[in-house]
Amino acid sequence: MKKVITYGTFDLFHQGHYNIIKRAKEYGDYLIVGVTSESYDIERGKLSVHDSLLTRIENVKKTGLVDEVIVEEYLGQKTRDIIQYNIDTLVVGSDWIGKFDHLRQYCNVVYLERTKNISSTQLREKSNEICKFGVITDNADDLGVVKETKYVSGIHIERVYSDDIAVAEEFCNKYELNSYSNDFDKFVDDLGIVYIKSSIEKRYDYIKKCIEKGLHIICDFPFSYDNEKCQELNRLAKEKNVALMENIVSVYLRAFTQFLWIARCGEVGKVLSVNIGMSSDFFKYEKTLEEMSVLAITAVIKLLGTDAKYVSKNIIPGDKDDMEYCSLFFRYDNSVARIEIGKNVDLHNHLTVIGTNGSIVVEDDWWNTGYFKVMKKGVKKVDRRSFNFEGTGFRYLIQELQIMLRDKRYECNRLTDSEGEAILKVFNQLDD
Ligand code: CTP
Repeated sequence: MKKVITYGTFDLFHQGHYNIIKRAKEYGDYLIVGVTSESYDIERGKLSVHDSLLTRIENVKKTGLVDEVIVEEYLGQKTRDIIQYNIDTLVVGSDWIGKFDHLRQYCNVVYLERTKNISSTQLREKSNEICKFGVITDNADDLGVVKETKYVSGIHIERVYSDDIAVAEEFCNKYELNSYSNDFDKFVDDLGIVYIKSSIEKRYDYIKKCIEKGLHIICDFPFSYDNEKCQELNRLAKEKNVALMENIVSVYLRAFTQFLWIARCGEVGKVLSVNIGMSSDFFKYEKTLEEMSVLAITAVIKLLGTDAKYVSKNIIPGDKDDMEYCSLFFRYDNSVARIEIGKNVDLHNHLTVIGTNGSIVVEDDWWNTGYFKVMKKGVKKVDRRSFNFEGTGFRYLIQELQIMLRDKRYECNRLTDSEGEAILKVFNQLDD
């Protein structure tokens, strides 16, 4: 019996999918189809899949041509499947030409020409109303945001606003947007989402205006230095059913979410201490020490809670009246945290949680990590967790917003209002 295998996401099942399954079957007697799992698609950056795994499997089965369906869960699984299922031929579409030649050592590899003029992407674009996205900025640097939005289908960056028309024009040309403006009403026109990355002093007014216009908002942290103003904005957003999200991407990353889960569910016992290091010269896009401190403070608040008994800081100033090095110490009832942030010092960019029963460690670049280690007392084997992570992380935040809007849910539970308040409280102390 000749066994054939083919793989795909098979989202919004279409004629191209049917054709390849039919032709794959002709290569043998027994056809296995591997359908990608939701988490695998997210890991490889395919964030726009519409149908659930169960629906996609059902649709593949409904062809009546498939003898067995399996789930493809990770990169490299094809090799295991080919050996385990004793496969004779792997069939894939011509979009993958050359990519699976290395599997010829295990079986035949056949690339079949794709059916023309149809794809899941096309169908998604037709069915999804495109949500128009705008950027409000003070400078012509996008920090990777334009590129990131391109990975989330159903979102299109239309235009940019700046008080300074020259900046808006430069941004627009640099990132090939449709238009630019310094007229706020013209700018917001038909937009659905706005990303505000202007200086802190201007954010409150912009957010307020956007809420009044019913726009959903992503804004750099904090919305304002003034907690009462932040509370007011959160309240207004709720009244208007508008999503108002802080641009703190780490809380949207799967590895970070898992890290938090493991720390908080007691896997390494009671958490005694959290230690964080960050060096600014390791950031791809230059960040101020304040911006970096937001990420670190967020991690502490997410890990240990909003009720720190006291926070103390030590700042060593730099040559240009800025911070060269900063150390923050948090005291909780039964635990402590220490954050070290430096400009040109190597602080290893690590995040370590020490518990009564072990520790969890991210060795480098913890704020956009895909990898961490869990070490338990008395257990020799290190438990290594790894997740693929694409881009700057902003795409995962937009994806979350898109899901919230689809479900008509306007409050983001990844970072609660009280966590936001606690972060701001510590953040403000940096300036005292
Ligand atoms: N395929 C095909 N002809 C098409 C579309 C897909 O032969 N018009 C094949 C692909 O080459 C692949 C399989 O069908 O071997 C599953 O493809 P999948 O990626 O699920 O479908 P796409 O429509 O290409 O999805 P997307 O647009 O999301 O990339």
